[in-house]
Amino acid sequence: MKMDQFYIIHEGNCKDILEDVSLFPDNSVDLIFTSPPYSDRRKTTYGGIHPAEYVSWFLPISEQLKRVLKPKGSFILNIKEHVNNGERLTYVIELILALREKGWCWIEEYCWYKKNSYPGKWPNRFRDSWERCLHFTLQKKFKMYQDAVKVPIGDWSKKRFKSMSEKDFIRTFSGTNAHFGRNVSNWLKRKKVYPHNVVVFEGEHYIETTNVVQLATECHNRNHSAAFPVELPTWFIKLFTKKGNVVLDPFMGIGTTATACLLSKRNFIGIELQKEYINEAKQNIESLRKLIAFNNK
Ligand SMILES: C[S@@+](CC[C@H](N)C(=O)[O-])C[C@H]1O[C@@H](n2cnc3c(N)ncnc32)[C@H](O)[C@@H]1O
Repeated sequence: MKMDQFYIIHEGNCKDILEDVSLFPDNSVDLIFTSPPYSDRRKTTYGGIHPAEYVSWFLPISEQLKRVLKPKGSFILNIKEHVNNGERLTYVIELILALREKGWCWIEEYCWYKKNSYPGKWPNRFRDSWERCLHFTLQKKFKMYQDAVKVPIGDWSKKRFKSMSEKDFIRTFSGTNAHFGRNVSNWLKRKKVYPHNVVVFEGEHYIETTNVVQLATECHNRNHSAAFPVELPTWFIKLFTKKGNVVLDPFMGIGTTATACLLSKRNFIGIELQKEYINEAKQNIESLRKLIAFNNK
């Protein structure tokens, strides 16, 4: 029997809603992908939490996230601390340490490199072009589908690399300041790594995946001042879930994670405090559903 995808949206404070075990049974979610308020950055639009209170505000929420996440699931937290009074705030670092104390494994920090970050010039720092996507799990063994985010490149690469000599390989790598020692060609053969960040898998050439995810930010407002681009949740959804799995975004905003789920055939549960964002999310989901249904006719 073919099951329909589900999209469930709850209005309210995610801490209270997550505590309702009839809505959120234990071990029921495959991936949590979310971007909470960045402290009090946007207190004039959707409120905020003072940096000094951030960890104590987030920990009870994280306890519920821990309860609902499946043992081999993942939690990705997109966040970036801002500058206050000439220094970067430290609440994100404190949060990472506090989450580890509470039993979360901090597996990785992915860097979302924002190719079109907001321009600016400061006397003491450069343009801020990246955000954190912190990867937490409940155990060291978790589900990860690395092949799902492979980026294939054209057949041109096969011909090009075939004609490269060992010297070409060494030259290309030293040009990137990579230090693989003198046995670079053996190392390359073993690892099946080619110059220009190309890897070979089952005879096909791919761009090597790294922990830097390069994506443009949203250029237009989309009725939310802090919406992320749909490609961001999509990349992590593909990496950590399969079709039909359940993705939770407890700070849903206008539902960008929901859109990513619709497009990648995952189920979605979202929570959002503000009615206007919920309405916008519902409209976005409905229009996209109609479009998908129309295209599938
Ligand atoms: C950074 S924005 C998320 C934007 C979202 N990723 C998108 O693309 O639309 C954070 C959202 O969390 C919501 N929010 C803040 N506190 C909340 C809470 N306690 N429970 C649920 N939602 C909350 C805010 O209203 C805001 O829309």
